[in-house]
Amino acid sequence: MNQNNISFSRAETCTVMEPIHSNIFGNVHGGELMKLMDIIAGITASKHANGMVVTARVDELEFHKSINIGAVVTCVGQLSYVGNTSLQVMVTVLVHEIERYSEPEVALTAFFTMVHLKDHKPSPVPPLYPTTKEEKELFALGEQKYKEIKAKMSKKS
Ligand SMILES: CC(C)(COP(=O)(O)OP(=O)(O)OC[C@H]1O[C@@H](n2cnc3c(N)ncnc32)[C@H](O)[C@@H]1OP(=O)(O)O)[C@@H](O)C(=O)NCCC(=O)NCCS
Repeated sequence: MNQNNISFSRAETCTVMEPIHSNIFGNVHGGELMKLMDIIAGITASKHANGMVVTARVDELEFHKSINIGAVVTCVGQLSYVGNTSLQVMVTVLVHEIERYSEPEVALTAFFTMVHLKDHKPSPVPPLYPTTKEEKELFALGEQKYKEIKAKMSKKS
């Protein structure tokens, strides 16, 4: 497998939500899911960069539906774009009930910007090659978001 392809660094984890993950309303605490998303974004980005990464930014974090305790959560990380030293990861959380399998539903989505560090400094990452039609569309979307973020950052400085 080509290590520069989007599919190479794709990462996925699956777990059951337990009472320890609950908020005061009795469903899953958003922070638990955000932590899971951050971990999968880090694994995805470090696999492509072949090194350590840190989270620089999270955009468009959306909670599309609440998740019940006892539900099965699948968290997927997929690179959407890379810059010079930064990597953009699209993270999706899918959910289905444990007692009856049905098509998993999208519960959360977000775009994470991770930065590859070497000797504590931002360091270049390999190029990213989308191959399928879906990957090419995701890459184009990622590039657009990357440019928008750069524009926002340059306004601040
Ligand atoms: C992220 C961090 C390494 C960037 O350092 P920096 O000196 O500002 O780096 P640079 O200005 O050289 O930018 C490096 C890359 O990061 C990107 N970047 C930096 N800050 C960013 C932000 N807030 N949002 C999006 N991208 C950002 C830049 O666009 C650049 O990308 P590119 O090389 O692909 O063009 C630094 O701000 C940091 O260490 N932050 C804390 C990270 C952390 O502790 N995370 C939580 C625990 S993992």
